[in-house]
Amino acid sequence: MLVFLLCLLLSSPPILTLSLNQDGLYLQRVKLGLSDPTNSLSSWDNNSRDETPCDWLGVTCDPLTRRVVSVNLDHSQLSGPFPIFLCRLPYLSRLSMVDNNINSTLPLDVSTCRNLTHLNLAWNLLVGTVPETLAEMPNLRSLDLSANNFTGDIPARFGEVSRLEFLNLAGNLLNGTIPSWLGNFSTLKELHLAYNPFTPGRIPSELGNMTNLKKLWLSHCNLMGQIPDSLARLNRLINLDLAINRLTGSIPSSITELKSIEQIELFENSFSGELPVKWLNTTTLRRFDASMNELTGTIPIELCELQLESLNLFENRLEGTIPESIAQSKNLYELKLFNNKLHGVLPSQLGKNSPLGSLDVSYNRFSGEIPESLCSKGSLEDLVLIHNSFSGKIPGGLGNCHSLRRVRLKQNLLSGSVPEGLWGLPHMYLFELAENSFTGSIPKRISGAYNLSMFLISKNQFSGSIPDEVGVLDNLLEFSASHNNFTGLIPGNLVKLDQLGKLDLSENELSGGIPQGIQGWGNLNELNLANNRLSGEIPGEIGSLPVLNYLDLSGNFLSGKIPLELQNLKLNLLNLSNNQLSGELPPLYAKEIYKSSFVGNPGLCEDLDGLCPEMGESKNQGYVWILRSIFVLAGVVFVVGVVWFYVKFRNFKRTKKSIAISKWKSFHKIGFSEFEVIDCLKEENLIGSGASGKVYKVVLRNGEAVAVKKLYGGSKKGDTSNGSLRDQFEVEVETLGKIRHKNIVRLWCCCNTGDSKLLVYEYMPNGSLGDLLHSSKVGMLGWPTRYKIALDAAEGLSYLHHDCVPPIVHRDVKSNNILLDAEFSARVADFGVAKVVHGVNRGQESMSVIAGSCGYIAPEYAYTLRVNEKSDIYSFGVVLLELVTGRLPIDPEFGEKDLVKWVCTNLDEKGFDSLIDPKLDSTYKEEICRVLEISLLCTSTLPINRPSMRKVVKLLQETSAENKSKTSKDGKLSPYYYEDASDQFVV
Ligand SMILES: *[C@@H]1O[C@H](CO)[C@@H](O)[C@H](O)[C@H]1NC(C)=O
Ligand SMILES: *[C@@H]1O[C@H](CO)[C@@H](O)[C@H](O)[C@H]1NC(C)=O
Repeated sequence: MLVFLLCLLLSSPPILTLSLNQDGLYLQRVKLGLSDPTNSLSSWDNNSRDETPCDWLGVTCDPLTRRVVSVNLDHSQLSGPFPIFLCRLPYLSRLSMVDNNINSTLPLDVSTCRNLTHLNLAWNLLVGTVPETLAEMPNLRSLDLSANNFTGDIPARFGEVSRLEFLNLAGNLLNGTIPSWLGNFSTLKELHLAYNPFTPGRIPSELGNMTNLKKLWLSHCNLMGQIPDSLARLNRLINLDLAINRLTGSIPSSITELKSIEQIELFENSFSGELPVKWLNTTTLRRFDASMNELTGTIPIELCELQLESLNLFENRLEGTIPESIAQSKNLYELKLFNNKLHGVLPSQLGKNSPLGSLDVSYNRFSGEIPESLCSKGSLEDLVLIHNSFSGKIPGGLGNCHSLRRVRLKQNLLSGSVPEGLWGLPHMYLFELAENSFTGSIPKRISGAYNLSMFLISKNQFSGSIPDEVGVLDNLLEFSASHNNFTGLIPGNLVKLDQLGKLDLSENELSGGIPQGIQGWGNLNELNLANNRLSGEIPGEIGSLPVLNYLDLSGNFLSGKIPLELQNLKLNLLNLSNNQLSGELPPLYAKEIYKSSFVGNPGLCEDLDGLCPEMGESKNQGYVWILRSIFVLAGVVFVVGVVWFYVKFRNFKRTKKSIAISKWKSFHKIGFSEFEVIDCLKEENLIGSGASGKVYKVVLRNGEAVAVKKLYGGSKKGDTSNGSLRDQFEVEVETLGKIRHKNIVRLWCCCNTGDSKLLVYEYMPNGSLGDLLHSSKVGMLGWPTRYKIALDAAEGLSYLHHDCVPPIVHRDVKSNNILLDAEFSARVADFGVAKVVHGVNRGQESMSVIAGSCGYIAPEYAYTLRVNEKSDIYSFGVVLLELVTGRLPIDPEFGEKDLVKWVCTNLDEKGFDSLIDPKLDSTYKEEICRVLEISLLCTSTLPINRPSMRKVVKLLQETSAENKSKTSKDGKLSPYYYEDASDQFVV
C-alpha cells in the first residue's frame, strides 16, 4: 500500500483519475456489447492511470499518436454479435477475433472500418452471406472469414473493386459456384475456398488469369471434370491444392510447367491414366501427393529426379519399380507408396542422402533386402513394409536408430535374428514383426522400449524364455507372441501391465502355472494361452477381470476345478478344452451349448452328453477305439428305441389331436378364437416366409387383422422324446408375450397344436423395413422417416436389453424384422424366436443354431457360436448402414465384402458422400453422416467397442438435436479426414 501511494506521489502530473480518451470509450462500448464468460476483458476498464486504452489486453497503439491501431482478441471465448463500435476507431488497421463465438450476421456497415487492412474473424459462428461491402474497403488487403457458417455465393463485387491479396473463406457453408470472375481478381495472392459445399462444377479456366496467385486451396469443393490447362499460366503459384474432389481424367502435363510450384496436392480424386513424364521444369517442386486415385503406369523417373521432400502415391494402381534417383534427393523426408502393384527392390541408397522420416511401401510386391542406409541421418520414425516379399536380415544399423516409433514388418520373408538394439528403442510404440521367420530370443534390453504399446511378434521362430523385463513396459496394450517356440515360465510380473488389452502367447512351449495376481489386468479383453504346457490350477481371480471377453486356455495341462468365478465374466469365447480339469462345471456353463468349451477334460465327465467320449481323443489314444465301439453300439440301441417309441407315441397322439389343439396361451385380452385363425392359414393369405416359418395375414370376423406365424418343424422330433421341451417353448413364448412396448410388435397369443406352432401377432400394414427399403417403394422413405425408424427400432431393442428381466437378446436383428405400422412407426419383431425354435428342436441341430442372418452376423460369432447383446448391436449397426446407404447387407456388387466392409473401404477411399443413398435429400447430409458414424461404432469388430443399446438411443437423439443447433467448430471436418490409411492396426 505504501509503495502504491509512493508511486502515485512520484508520478506526474499528480492527478488521481484521468478521463479516458475517445478510443477507450469506444472500446468500453465494445466490451458492453459482448458476453465475456471468462472475463478476458477484465483489463478493459478505466481504473487505469492512463487516459488511453493502450495497455488493455489485445490493444496496440501507435507509439507516437497513442491512437489504437490494432485489436487482437483471439481465443477469448467472447460471444455476441460483431462489435461494430470497433469501426469507430479511426486508425484501426488490424482486427483479429479468431476462435470466439461471434454470432449472427456480419453487418453491412462493417465497411465503416475504413482503415482496416487486416480483418480476421476465423472460427466464429457468423451466419448469412459474406457482405459485399467488404469489397469496397479501400485498404483491406487480408480477409479471413474461414470456419464460420456463411452461406450463398462469394459476392461478385470482390472481382470488380477489391484489392485484396489474401482471401480465406474455407470451412463455411458456401453453396453457390466457384465463380469465373475470380480470374479478374488480379491482386489476389492467396485464395482459400476449401471445405465448402459448393454446387458441383468445374474449375473455371479463368483462374489461369490470377497471375499473382501463390496459393490456391480448393480441396473438398465439389469440383468435377478435368484440371484446365490454363492453370499452367500461374507462374507464381507455390501451392496447388485440389485434393478431395471428384476430378477426373489424367493429371495434365500442364501442371509440370508451373515454374514456382513447391507443393501439389491431388489426393482423393478420381484421376486415372498415367502420371506426366516430363517434370524437369518444376525444379522447385518439393511435395507431390496424388494418393487415393486410380492412377496406372509407373512412377516417372523425372519426378524422382527432383529434390522432393515428400512423395505420396499410395492407393493407386501403379506398377514397376521405384526409380533409384529418388534416393539422391537431399530433402526426401516422406515416401508413401502403399497399396499399389509396385515390385523390385527398394533403392539401395534410400535414406543415405536425406533425413528420411517416414517410409511406407506396404501391400506391394517388393522383394530383396531392406536397405542398410534407411536411418543414416538418424531421423527415421516410421518404417512400414507390411505384406511384401522382403527377405534377408534386418540391417544392423536400424538397431541404433533411436528415432524409430513405428516398425511394421508383418508378412514378409525376413529371417535371422533381430538386431539387439532394435528391441529396446525408447520411442518405439508399435513394433510388429509378425509372420516372418525370425529366430533368436527377446533380449533383456526390451525394458528400454518403455513407450512400447503394441508388441506383435507372432508366427516366427523366436525361442528362449520371455524375459521378466517385458513386465516393466507399462504402456503395453497388446502383446502377441503366438506361434513361436518360447519356453520357460510366463513371467510373473506380466500381471503388472494394467493397460494390457490383449495377451496372446498361444502355440508356444511355455510351462509352469498361470501367474499369481492377475486381477491387476483391469483392461484385459483377450487372454489366449492355448496350446502350451501350462499346469496348475486356473486362478479364481480370473473371474474378477472386468472386461475379459475372450478366454482360451485349451490344450494345456491345467488341473483342479473350474473356478465358479468364471460365471462373472461376459465371455464371447471360452475354451478350456483338452486340459486335465476335474470336478463340477459352474452351473452357468453346465449347458449343451458350452460343451465344446470343456471337451477333452477326463475329470469333467458329468452331465453333458458327449463330454466324455471326446476326452479320449487327445490323450488316452489306446482306449479310444474300444470306447468308441461301445458308444456306437449304445447309440444304435438308443436310436432304435427312440424310433420305436416315436412311432408308438405318434399314433397315440393322433387319436388325441382334437384335445391338444386348444392349447392357447393368450397374453392380452383377445376377441377371437383359435379356430377362426387356423381356418385362414391358406396360401392366398400368405404374406411372407422366413427361416423359422411362414406368415399369414388373417382378417378376423370382427374386421381386425392379425399376422399369424406358423413355425416350421413343430412336431417332427422334439415332442416325442421329451415332453418338457414343449413346455419350454411355452414358457419362453409366455415371457415374450408379456412384453409391451411401443416399439415392439405385440404377440397376442400362441398355440401349440402338436402339428404346428402358431404365433399370433398384431398386423403391421406397411410390412417390413427391408421390403420397403429394397423395393421400388423406397421413395416413401425420406430421411426423416428413416431416422425415425432407426430411433424407434433402437428404443425397442434397448427395452429388450435393458428393461426386461432377464434381458432378452433378439438374435436376429435385421431390416426384415423391423415392421412398420400405418404411420411408419417402427416395431421390432421376431425377437427371441430363434432361441425358442432352437430350444424345441435342439435334439437335431444343437450345434448349428441359426442365430442371425447373412450380412448381419457379428464377426465374433464365427469363432464363438454365441450371441449376446453385443451381437444384436452389431446387427443393428448393419440396419443403420442399410438406412444410410440404401444398400443390401450383402450384394454381389461388393464382391467378397459385406456391407460393413464395403462401407469402411469406400469411406477411406472416397469419403462420406460416395456412401450416402443418392435418393436422400442432401440437405440432411450432416445428420446422415452422424448416423453413419453411429453405425460404424455399432459395427466395431471388437464387441467391447460397441456402445450399449441405451447409448445408441442417446446418440441417435443427439444427432437430430445437434443438427438443430449446429455450430461450425465441431462436425465440420469429419474425424475420418485424411488419415494415414495403413496406420490402422491390421489384425
Ligand atoms: C449470440 O450469443 C449471445 C451471447 O452468448 C446469445 O445470447 C445470443 O442468443 C446468440 N444469438 C444467436 C442468434 O445465436
Ligand atoms: C489510416 O491509418 C493510416 C496509418 O496507418 C493514417 O495515416 C491515416 O490517416 C488513417 N486514415 C484515416 C481515414 O483515419
